[in-house]
Amino acid sequence: MITVKVPLKNAEQVKNQLITKNLFNNKYKVLKKGSYLYIPVTSKQQVKETVPEAQFSSIQLPRIKQKPSIREALTKKLTHNELEQLKTAHDQIGSIAIIEVDPELSKREKQIANTLLKLNPSIKTVYKKAAAHEGKFRVQKLRYLAGERKSETEYKENNITIQLDVKTVYFSPRLGNERKRITKQVKKGEKVMVLFSGCGPYVCSIAKNSKASEVWGIEINPEASRYAFENTILNKLSNTRLFRGDVKKIVPKLKQKFDRILMPLPKTSESFLSSALTLAKKGTIIHFYSFQKQGEFKKAVNKIKKACKKAKKTSKILEIVKCGQHAPYIYRICVDFKIS
Ligand SMILES: C[S@@+](CC[C@H](N)C(=O)[O-])C[C@H]1O[C@@H](n2cnc3c(N)ncnc32)[C@H](O)[C@@H]1O
Repeated sequence: MITVKVPLKNAEQVKNQLITKNLFNNKYKVLKKGSYLYIPVTSKQQVKETVPEAQFSSIQLPRIKQKPSIREALTKKLTHNELEQLKTAHDQIGSIAIIEVDPELSKREKQIANTLLKLNPSIKTVYKKAAAHEGKFRVQKLRYLAGERKSETEYKENNITIQLDVKTVYFSPRLGNERKRITKQVKKGEKVMVLFSGCGPYVCSIAKNSKASEVWGIEINPEASRYAFENTILNKLSNTRLFRGDVKKIVPKLKQKFDRILMPLPKTSESFLSSALTLAKKGTIIHFYSFQKQGEFKKAVNKIKKACKKAKKTSKILEIVKCGQHAPYIYRICVDFKIS
């Protein structure tokens, strides 16, 4: 390794110069000793040309320990074939990590989970996805693998805090950008309805970060609904109204109209379009989520057109946004449309 010795009074300026010229070696630590700063660099010749006054030193600087990736950490523990099957991505909800394990690696799952715990101090518990999101509540079956035996956690995004139990409530950290996209569209004074509001991430994000006058939510899962109530308190929100129950039963009793309606239930939202349309007036914007194959997004538009025709309403498609991948070639899309 090559080290440059710089008097402390010029040190910051020389260091910045080296960084700008891409000559700073970030694999080693900078050392302050006496009235000098010792800076690791990548090339003696180039440093001589860039900083002619630089003095070189034979001092050995300590190497910065790079955190290995999960694959690197498991290189010596798994066989070549096992490493090929290793899925390295994981979801993190607060201090809980959720991993996917290929069935061929099931005997190694505890080892993988414990390695993840060791590598990431912010992870305290590791679960494995045991099945896809299923049932009416869209809850994911999880199997405990390692760490603290807990399933309740606290997640922060878009200036809000969401508490939930990963075993009893649907929540996806991957939808944070989508929640931000919708929140940004909400204008001052809007009355917003979130159908299928879960533990309240859309409700809280909109109520906290926009100037909506009111944000309503309806959720059928009693556990998710309880968390949503608690989350509105946790986030100090006063302009929210939450209902526990079935959208199809609650909506007819509301006798209300909204400026914006969200339908984040991509699997079956189609069957709720007629309910949503009864809450809409001229100018209402509806965000309709759906799972569709690449190249077949028009199918979602056709469902909207059909439901609008039946409800004797006309609509204008504003945008179709891809907001996640559900399965190979199948996307979670959001069709934003306006009642005209
Ligand atoms: C995909 S999750 C979305 C939850 C939440 N909006 C989020 O983004 O985290 C769909 C939610 O709809 C709820 N749900 C399903 N059918 C419902 C119905 N008929 N009425 C009200 N909520 C329903 C489920 O319990 C689930 O919490």
